[in-house]
Amino acid sequence: MSEKKVLILFAHPAFQKSRANRHLVDAVQNLDGVTFRDLYELYPDFNIQVAKEQQLLLDHDVIVFQHPFYWYSSPALLKEWQDLVLEHGFAYGKDGTALKDKWLLTMITTGGGEEAYRHEGYNHFTIPELLQPFEQTAWLCKMLYLPPFVVHGVNNLSDDEMGQCAKEYQNVITGLRDGQLTSEQWQGKGYINDIVAGGGSHA
Ligand SMILES: Cc1cc2nc3c(=O)[nH]c(=O)nc-3n(C[C@H](O)[C@H](O)[C@H](O)COP(=O)(O)O)c2cc1C
Repeated sequence: MSEKKVLILFAHPAFQKSRANRHLVDAVQNLDGVTFRDLYELYPDFNIQVAKEQQLLLDHDVIVFQHPFYWYSSPALLKEWQDLVLEHGFAYGKDGTALKDKWLLTMITTGGGEEAYRHEGYNHFTIPELLQPFEQTAWLCKMLYLPPFVVHGVNNLSDDEMGQCAKEYQNVITGLRDGQLTSEQWQGKGYINDIVAGGGSHA
């Protein structure tokens, strides 16, 4: 029986051309206890139904933002979703406690390789640094911010490697859903991948 309900908010403006997110979506969208929402499919004109989105947030415990990394952030529709749905008095402010103690996980795919996201690398900043607006948003909304799940250098990954990443993503989602992944485990981790992959760790 699932302990936590997971809401995946997926934002990809060209999903029909996607390879990486296609693998990742296929691995999680039909899992028990998981509600998957393709925001660009639902809101091609950016007419987000705020009350509906807020009710979905209320009905779930773990909120996942899944998207390709675009200009060091999310595609525009997920930003619009934040601007409209995370209202004062709902998500933040004195009486804005609707999201209190819910968990926020970001799941991104990047064109850049892992080595590019180092201080001495091409992109100068680490992924946790670049995701700080999401971390602070979670904090303001009294949510618990998890280390991100990141798939780097997607254009250089084989289908087998992408499949392995998708399996790890699935393990993260089911682990969070079933209470097998705990804050003690992810404390101090750069990426939540490190818990399920058993490989090297990220800063
Ligand atoms: C508009 C745009 C902006 C992008 N910005 C970044 C970026 O800031 N950093 C990065 O590593 N990759 C960037 N990329 C590459 C995408 O992250 C990459 O193509 C995507 O993760 C691949 O996933 P998909 O196969 O599901 O489309 C960008 C791509 C586009 C089209």
